[in-house]
Amino acid sequence: MLRDRRVLLIISGGIAAYKSLELIRRLRERGAVVRAIMTAAAHQFVTPLAVASLSENRVYTDLFSLTEESEMGHIRLSREADLVVVAPASADLMARMATGLAGDLAAAVLLASDKPVLLAPAMNAMMWAHPATQANLGTLERRGVMRVGPGAGDLACGEVGSGRMAEPHEIVAAIEGFFARAGRLKGRRALVTSGPTREPIDPVRYISNHSSGKQGHAIAGALAAAGAETILVSGPTVEPDPPGVRVIAVERAAEMLRSCDASLPVDVAVMAAAVADWRVEEVASQKLKKRKGEAPLLRLVENPDILASIARREHERPALVIGFAAETEDIVENARKKRVKKGCDWILANDVSPDAGTFGGEANRITLVDGEGVEEWPQMTKREVAQRLAERIAAALAPRRKPE
Ligand code: C5P
Repeated sequence: MLRDRRVLLIISGGIAAYKSLELIRRLRERGAVVRAIMTAAAHQFVTPLAVASLSENRVYTDLFSLTEESEMGHIRLSREADLVVVAPASADLMARMATGLAGDLAAAVLLASDKPVLLAPAMNAMMWAHPATQANLGTLERRGVMRVGPGAGDLACGEVGSGRMAEPHEIVAAIEGFFARAGRLKGRRALVTSGPTREPIDPVRYISNHSSGKQGHAIAGALAAAGAETILVSGPTVEPDPPGVRVIAVERAAEMLRSCDASLPVDVAVMAAAVADWRVEEVASQKLKKRKGEAPLLRLVENPDILASIARREHERPALVIGFAAETEDIVENARKKRVKKGCDWILANDVSPDAGTFGGEANRITLVDGEGVEEWPQMTKREVAQRLAERIAAALAPRRKPE
């Protein structure tokens, strides 16, 4: 049911636009309030009259129309929605979104929007596979934009391949899934660590690791999307800040620990950072000089274990403390031992052997170990892992229902 959920539907140009009519009908049947915006190209495929009749609302098309602006400014149009759905999302509109162009009403509303956005891409298979489209998609997804489809099959252009817009029932399911998730962690506080740490040797050199921060950032984004007030303490990464998350940038493990401590109390802590195990005992205040035949000896000391320190706190221990285990062998056994050693509730183990492509890659394969046993998750994208974890966290933190 989508009763009184306000969906702003943006219809861009493409033959799949005819499916948007069916989408509107299904959304209205479920009680959603639908307002639609059409791009100029969309007019070639469906008429504003059909869209207006099915949505039982007027249709907006023109950025510079005085009547439209006086009735409903484009800023208000985006603010008065719970979710923005772009279906079909053409390669052109996705490119404009990724770049931040605002030359027509659809693009201007998307740029001015602070609301979650769901894309249903639809285009020719070559356009979909093109590195430009994939790069734009990557940019948008890192910013938190959600996506449903496209599927593979016969395309309207006569070719076969990936680029077919998701069917209206699939888009409705994605919209319902979004509303079911949103708010599940409302009133909860979450702390996430992400990225590597950087331990200085001297003013120009450091010790670090290959962690990209992709998984930790995706988790922070998913927790925030589920309504949690989320703090992300992150080492150096090129990942953009996830929407709705307070980000604290740190470099060294000691700083990461301080920022984590200062962020308590929280209901859940997810420690996904790859914290350097050691730091250099004495950081040189000047750049170490190269001397012929003489390499400097670096004496290392152990860094604080942030996960263990949070999990073993007597005061303000989060209800749920979750750690990661990057393993290259005996994954389950090592994860079990790590869970006990660190005192955390769940360990998410992943295979980081070089051929698994986990470090810096998009995919991850998780084995979750908790007090009850072992759960093998299938290979998923890091965003899917984040979403599944957020759902499991929400279920674990939900107050148990009293027996009737
Ligand atoms: O001991 P190991 O590094 O394999 O443990 C991994 C888990 O512990 C991760 O969740 C990581 O974020 C956390 N960790 C930490 N502080 C450290 C080392 C690891 O929080 N110094």
